[in-house]
Amino acid sequence: MKIRYLGHSAFQIDTGKHKLLIDPFLSGNPNSGATPDECDADYILVSHAHGDHLGDAVSISKRCGAIIISNFEIATYCNMLGAKSHPLHIGGSFGFDFGRVKLTIAHHGSTLVAEDGSFVTLGAPCGFLIFTGGKTLYHAGDTGLFYDMKLIGEMYSIDAAMLPIGDNFTMGIDDAVKAVQFLNPKVTIPMHYNTFDVIKADPNRFAEKVMAAGNEVAILGPGQSMEV
Ligand code: NI
Ligand code: MN
Repeated sequence: MKIRYLGHSAFQIDTGKHKLLIDPFLSGNPNSGATPDECDADYILVSHAHGDHLGDAVSISKRCGAIIISNFEIATYCNMLGAKSHPLHIGGSFGFDFGRVKLTIAHHGSTLVAEDGSFVTLGAPCGFLIFTGGKTLYHAGDTGLFYDMKLIGEMYSIDAAMLPIGDNFTMGIDDAVKAVQFLNPKVTIPMHYNTFDVIKADPNRFAEKVMAAGNEVAILGPGQSMEV
């Protein structure tokens, strides 16, 4: 299957039969790898309610009929805006036609700042385990390092992990290197860096440290893809 990086924490997964989008922050991202109009999706996975993750999920869902998969609160919110959605919650999984999605914990926030300035907390932030086409993918969402990543690595043989490295709001490089040791994925794709000044990070420095410890890294520029 093909994994295409769309910048920040946004990815498109093409299984050959189905197209999934994760955290489609596209129109608001100056370094986006695609415009929202270019993105066809059957499903859209949203890790939390911050604007740089919820992004264009609702508009793409409405245009494509894509089902938004997220926590109960975000799924319900998107549904109220006219998008199709499927609610899950932490530790729960569901079998869709493309495969299974399980919500994992993430240490972060999930508050939406509405246009009228009000703050709406939409449940707990999450990450995703995605089981599709015989592959296991892990997208950590926005999170600090947590020791349960070791449990995730013990329970599942991860083919590709998407981990934040930008620091400030999430793990920085050194904590992400530790996360790779816990998860032991076949390959790690760094994300959530260099979109804004406060999350500047050098993905090559991350790759050097991870590879020195014996794991693989694939650095994808916005718009670039790889086969898994
Ligand atoms: Ni966030
Ligand atoms: Mn973020």
